[in-house]
Amino acid sequence: MDIRIFETSEELDLYAAEIFRKLINEKPNAVLGLATGSTPVGIYAKMVEDYKNNKVSFSGVTTYNLDEYVGLTPDNDQSYAYYMNQNLFSHVDIPAIQTNLPDGMAEDPQEECRRYEAMINEHPADIQLLGLGHNGHIAFNEPDEHLSAGTHVVKLKEETLEANARFFASIDEVPKEAYTMGIGSILKANTILLVVRGSDKANIVKEALTGPITTKVPASLLQTHPRVTVLLDREAGRML
Ligand code: GLP
Repeated sequence: MDIRIFETSEELDLYAAEIFRKLINEKPNAVLGLATGSTPVGIYAKMVEDYKNNKVSFSGVTTYNLDEYVGLTPDNDQSYAYYMNQNLFSHVDIPAIQTNLPDGMAEDPQEECRRYEAMINEHPADIQLLGLGHNGHIAFNEPDEHLSAGTHVVKLKEETLEANARFFASIDEVPKEAYTMGIGSILKANTILLVVRGSDKANIVKEALTGPITTKVPASLLQTHPRVTVLLDREAGRML
C-alpha cells in the first residue's frame, strides 16, 4: 500500500485530481469508479478546475458509482445521482450516457443488481475512488459476519443512518436501504484510491490498514488488493 499523509486538505485534493488527470490524459476512454460523501467533494472541485483550464477532457470517460439509496429519484437532492451531477458531471464534458449509478427507482431490485454488476464486469474500473465510513464500511458494505461479493441491496446500519442524517431534514428521512457494489466488485478495479479525512476516522484508518483482515472492518479487505493508494490528511493519519 502506498500511504500518503498531507498537511492540508487542498494538497490532498490537488494530488488526487492529478492522479485522475494523468490517467485520463494517458487513457481518454478510462473507466472511473466514483464515490460520494463529503470526502471527495474537494477532489471533484479540482477535477472541474482542471477541465475548465483545458487540462483534461472527460468526453471519452465512463464512470460507475459505488452506491445509491433505494427509493430516491435522481432529482432528489439527497440522491447520489444528484450529488454527482452537482459536484462533477454537470460541470464537465462527460456525456450523461457514460455516467452510471444504480437506479434507485428500479422496479426489480434484484434485476437492477444483476444489471449493474454485469456492467462492472464488462468495464472494470481503471481506478476506484473510495471514502471510508466510521465503522469501516466502504461504499455501503457494512461490518458483518459475512460480506457480499457483487452488487446487492443492503439494509443500512443504525450508525450509518445517524452519520448520514446530517444531509437530511431528519433521521427518519434517511432511506433505510441502498444499492451498493460488493467488496468483490470494488476489488476488481485495477487501482484503488482510498481517501480519508478527519481525526474522528484516525482509529478506523489504523484498523483498516494495519489490523487483521476481517469482515467486521470491510475496508480491511483492501489489504488484499495489489495496487492501493491511500491519501490521508494529517488528522486521519495521526495513529499510523
Ligand atoms: C457513506 C457512503 C460511502 C462514504 C462514507 C463516508 O455512507 N456510502 O461511500 O465513503 O459514507 O462518507 P463521508 O465521506 O461523508 O465521511
